[in-house]
Order: sequence, then structure tokens, then C-alpha cells
Amino acid sequence: MNTILLSGTSNPELASRIARRLHTKLGDIEITRFIDNECRVYIKEQVEGKMVVVVQSLSTIADQHLVELCLIGQALKSLKARHVIAVIPWLGYSKQDKEFRKGEAISAQLVAKFIEAAGFDAVITVELHSENVLPFFKIPVSEIRTEELLRKALKIRPGAVVVSPDKGGKSRSERFANGSGLPIAYLVKKRNLETGEVTVADIEGTVKGHDVIIFDDIINTGATAIRTSQFLKNHGAKKIYFLATHAVLAGDAAELFAKSPIDHVIVTDTIAIPKAKLFRKLSLSSVAPFLAGAIKKL
Ligand code: R5P
Repeated sequence: MNTILLSGTSNPELASRIARRLHTKLGDIEITRFIDNECRVYIKEQVEGKMVVVVQSLSTIADQHLVELCLIGQALKSLKARHVIAVIPWLGYSKQDKEFRKGEAISAQLVAKFIEAAGFDAVITVELHSENVLPFFKIPVSEIRTEELLRKALKIRPGAVVVSPDKGGKSRSERFANGSGLPIAYLVKKRNLETGEVTVADIEGTVKGHDVIIFDDIINTGATAIRTSQFLKNHGAKKIYFLATHAVLAGDAAELFAKSPIDHVIVTDTIAIPKAKLFRKLSLSSVAPFLAGAIKKL
């Protein structure tokens, strides 16, 4: 392969999976921290005139992983790489895609500017939080959707109902339901913008006596999944399957899931999950084949 594949420090396992799919090795890059914790990037590959792909999720600690990505982009440009592509499986900071309260910064917009300013020519990402994010980028962005992957991982349950967890996830859930030939019910979810507390107020449709499948983009604190599953159980749901692309699993989300009425959780490897956060009901599906496919087409 003529393309050089580099990995940041956020998800080297996924980067290696992609490399294996592409029958190549990860390129030589040294990423270290100065004594004051500032990041130092040193690219040891000969990249002049070449296409270079950098794999870096903006996962926790997102600030650090973002700066690291930008430094890699800047170094590659100064080494005269021909084309520099950022593969950002989880685009951290994308949840704040509008000013929810007057005075809040729109982080998704600024992050897009940082990535461009660092010199990246294009971005490949997975399941964006919302359609508001795309227009923030002036460089081409291709988005890989995960409904097919997660649908296959779950194996469709005849008689199940797809449940849209909130207004923001409506079109994602509808795509999943239509593609699976399953009916859909809609929840009315409210989040307190001060405390982050989630409440489920109502349901449009019925789940009584049915298995349910929830397909969300992110598991962050787990509040959406936990409140939703409790509400659905109270409304007569049988088994509950929770599918999500990005397993942020912030705070004690993993423990909450383990204790929840959810029967099975399937997530992808866009974010590296530390061993301590793995739990019995959790299984993983890799996005590596899709990312490798997108890189091959460059
Ligand atoms: C909401 O807009 C998103 O699609 C997810 O439902 C949300 O980000 C999940 O966050 P948490 O796990 O903290 O409820």
C-alpha cells in the first residue's frame, strides 16, 4: 500500500485492526509528553509526497487527544505529505453542536476548525452525533454508519420493536427500524441542562409484550439507557437490547449497565474500552473493516 497509516495514542488497538485489514503495518511515530505534560509528536516516516492517514479517536481525555491529532497533522504538513487524512472514529466534543443555553460554546464547530487548521485535507468518521456537525467542516467528511454492523451483531428478533430514545435519535432509529422491517415506538426524553438528569416522560407506540431494541449513537453517562430501560420495563417490554456506536462509558456507566434491566449491550470499538469497564452483558463489534474499506477507496 502506498498510503502510510499512523496511530495516535487514543485507540491503537483499532488502528492495528485497520492495518491488519489493509495488510500493512502502522508507521513509525513517537508521541511523548514533556515533563509539564505538553505533547510532543515526532514523525519518523518518510512522508514527503505521500498520502498519510492518521487514526485518532477524540475519546477521554478528549482535549489531549485533539491536541495530539492536530500536532500530528501539522508535522505531516511541514514534512510535505501530499494528502493528510484524519480517521476520527469518535468525534469527541461533537455533542455540543449548538448553543443549548445562551452563552455556551459550540465545541463541535471549533473542533472542526482546529482539525482544518492543523492541515488535514479530509476526515473519515463514524456515526456523527447529529447532522448539525457536518456543516461545521469546510473539508470533505465521510461518515460511516453502523446500523448494518450492529443489526448483524444482534441478529434481528422477529416481533421486536425498535425504540427511539429521544427526538435527536429519531432518524437514526427510523433507519434502523426500516432496514430491519420492524415497527418503531418513540420516547419523549427530557434532560435537565443544569444537572444532566434524564427523565422519560412518555411513549408514542407500544412495547407491551415485545422485545425492544434501542439504537443510540453514544453511551456517555448511561443515564439515557438506564432511564429508558426502566421506563420500557414498566410499560411491559420483555427483553431489552441496547445498541450504541460509541461507548464513552463515563464515570460509573459500566456498573449502572451491569445492574440495569438491559439484557444485552452491543457497542463498537470506535473508543478503546479499558478492561475495568467491560461487563458481562457487553459485546463488541469492530468498525475496522469499514474504516479499512474507506481508506482503500482514497
Ligand atoms: C443524546 O442526544 C445522545 O444521542 C445520547 O442518547 C446521549 O448522549 C447519551 O448520553 P448519556 O449516556 O449520558 O445519557
